[in-house]
Amino acid sequence: QANERESMYLVSEFAKDIFHHNLLKTDQGKAIGLSYFKERGFSEVTIKKFQLGYSFDSWDAFTSEALRKGYKLEYLEKTGLTIVKEEKQFDRFKGRVIFPILSMSGRTLGFGGRILTNDKKAAKYLNSPESDIYHKSKVLYGIFHAKQSIAKEDNCYLVEGYTDVIQFHQTGIHNVVSSSGTALTEEQIRLINRLTQNITLLFDGDAAGLRASLRGVDLILEQGMNVKICTFPEGEDPDSFARKNSLEELTIYLEENAQDFINFKASTLVKDTKNDPIKKADTIRDMVTSISKIPDVIKREIYVKECSRIMDISEEVLFNSLAQIFLKNK
Ligand code: CTP
Ligand code: MN
Ligand code: MN
Ligand code: MN
Ligand code: MN
Repeated sequence: QANERESMYLVSEFAKDIFHHNLLKTDQGKAIGLSYFKERGFSEVTIKKFQLGYSFDSWDAFTSEALRKGYKLEYLEKTGLTIVKEEKQFDRFKGRVIFPILSMSGRTLGFGGRILTNDKKAAKYLNSPESDIYHKSKVLYGIFHAKQSIAKEDNCYLVEGYTDVIQFHQTGIHNVVSSSGTALTEEQIRLINRLTQNITLLFDGDAAGLRASLRGVDLILEQGMNVKICTFPEGEDPDSFARKNSLEELTIYLEENAQDFINFKASTLVKDTKNDPIKKADTIRDMVTSISKIPDVIKREIYVKECSRIMDISEEVLFNSLAQIFLKNK
């Protein structure tokens, strides 16, 4: 079992290197993959730092090469790099640009591959399947390059996608990771918890991003961690926003727009409920539910006071409502 995993790591490492080589040193890679990344504003330094790659637009170029080099089909299949169908072998990432996913210690665990066309029928991103070395719920894209900065800054920015992480790095913000394609999980938060107690959610400026932020908040509070939320203008994500702005502008934007979860809920949920008492009650219940997740009583009390002030409701009622939630969950 341990040997098997070792073989899977080796073939993944090989794949990462060959995809990276394809991108930088071959005609097809340069013409298609490299020019795509350049168009997105990624510099050569950034591309090398994240070991970005390209998988040829061919059914089995990668698989054949790996087999030639002595890697076994068994491990190519187990890592999902090769798909075997009716005795034929296919490259999973055919014709895609590649984002290698590294562990905290820098081992290659899996890959994300993006299509280059705007073909709405094909999935925009394809990711490695779950395997003995790749558990997507336990992995954070960018953690290897971010860990030092997260500890030093004592804060972690959490974004949705690969390109958000990369563009932030290029702009000069390094304490950033992404849950890449999964709804945030408890295990991912615990990974961050080893480095800092503070998370700032930076989700896309769209309905999906807003929903993801709201879901993320309670999960983070439950771990006893602090959470802030910073939203982006409609239609922007951290990548597009960072690309348009300098480090100074981005830093100021993050500082000015990061809200405490209570204020975030107040401003997003209350927006359309100003004079509707029933909706206002729902918002307050929602806030109290979040507060109930906080393990620390002192912090809970501080947030109750904050909620009381913002929503103009007595602390006593809020404490009663908290008590009801605790009773129900007993
Ligand atoms: N994702 C995925 N599969 C998809 C779409 C998205 O796994 N079909 C994941 C990817 O990790 C992606 C993240 O969800 O980075 C966020 O999705 P989205 O905002 O749509 O993608 P972006 O990262 O903004 O991609 P791009 O800028 O390249 O369009
Ligand atoms: Mn999105
Ligand atoms: Mn994007
Ligand atoms: Mn996005
Ligand atoms: Mn920038």
